[in-house]
Amino acid sequence: MMRFFLKVQAQRVIGLLPYSDAIYVWLQRRLTGSVAPRASDVMGKRAIVRDYIDMAARLAGKSVADLEPHLDIGSGWLLSLPLAFRQAGIKQQVATDIHAGAQLQDVAASAAIFDKVGLACLGQPKPGQDLTAWLSDLGIRYMAPAYAPFDLPPASFGLVSSTQVLMHPAPDVVQLIYAEAVRLLRPGGLFIATIKIYDSYCHADPSLTRFNFLRFSHATWERWFQNRFTPYNRMRPSDHRSLIEALPFEILHWEVQGGGPAELAELARITPHAEFASYPPEELAATGLKVVLRRR
Ligand SMILES: C[S@@+](CC[C@H](N)C(=O)[O-])C[C@H]1O[C@@H](n2cnc3c(N)ncnc32)[C@H](O)[C@@H]1O
Repeated sequence: MMRFFLKVQAQRVIGLLPYSDAIYVWLQRRLTGSVAPRASDVMGKRAIVRDYIDMAARLAGKSVADLEPHLDIGSGWLLSLPLAFRQAGIKQQVATDIHAGAQLQDVAASAAIFDKVGLACLGQPKPGQDLTAWLSDLGIRYMAPAYAPFDLPPASFGLVSSTQVLMHPAPDVVQLIYAEAVRLLRPGGLFIATIKIYDSYCHADPSLTRFNFLRFSHATWERWFQNRFTPYNRMRPSDHRSLIEALPFEILHWEVQGGGPAELAELARITPHAEFASYPPEELAATGLKVVLRRR
């Protein structure tokens, strides 16, 4: 618990400093090495893209070409998902993030890992080429920092994706992102999202359960734990479902992960705050959500 608290407080302090993004990336690079691409993570992203493309074909009869252009919301520092989509044959993409964290050497290292295993060749930047120019050669426009609603024309995308992002923004921003997908997709276009909805601080502090963040009231969470780099909205599956059902989407796939006996036993180790009393235990003990939506 102490480790978690100290980590969050350090993130909160860094978030208040000038040039906080640059300082955070520098610290991650120096202290944790988490900016450097690891083959296992990159390969994991490749499997995710394969899953998205398979689901688009199976659930909606879409070919890869039907998914163009593709908008990725929250592409991260390594742009692994846009690179994997490119390798899978998607030639026009927009990659966005609220943090402008992507750097040429990291994205090139990520591409090199893809090229070791993939059939299509992403290649490397030409001498002297900057990130924007190289990505443009790959058909990827990188927009960061960029916030929904985006400066992009309506009904212009075949696929909008957001992978491990929607657990971070405040619920009103999540609502805005769903609404933005509606605005930007062509009729029949797809929105695909995967969302981890457990407390990821358990990875840094093994004394925590995956549901630790449910112990706190909204006021306490905002006051002591929210920070610029890893905010968590703690939304449960039904919160996402309510937002989605209010929009012109057809739900093609709705998959709630977790919520079974093992997770319920883990949930029983904590006392969720009374503000979560209206949720059934299976909702509180859910660990992930995967949704495929079709724009009506
Ligand atoms: C866990 S990373 C996932 C990165 C990438 N999608 C992947 O799977 O490799 C979460 C990313 O979401 C971004 N993010 C958080 N809130 C966002 C928002 N409101 N809009 C867009 N991106 C956001 C963060 O900056 C971060 O890069």
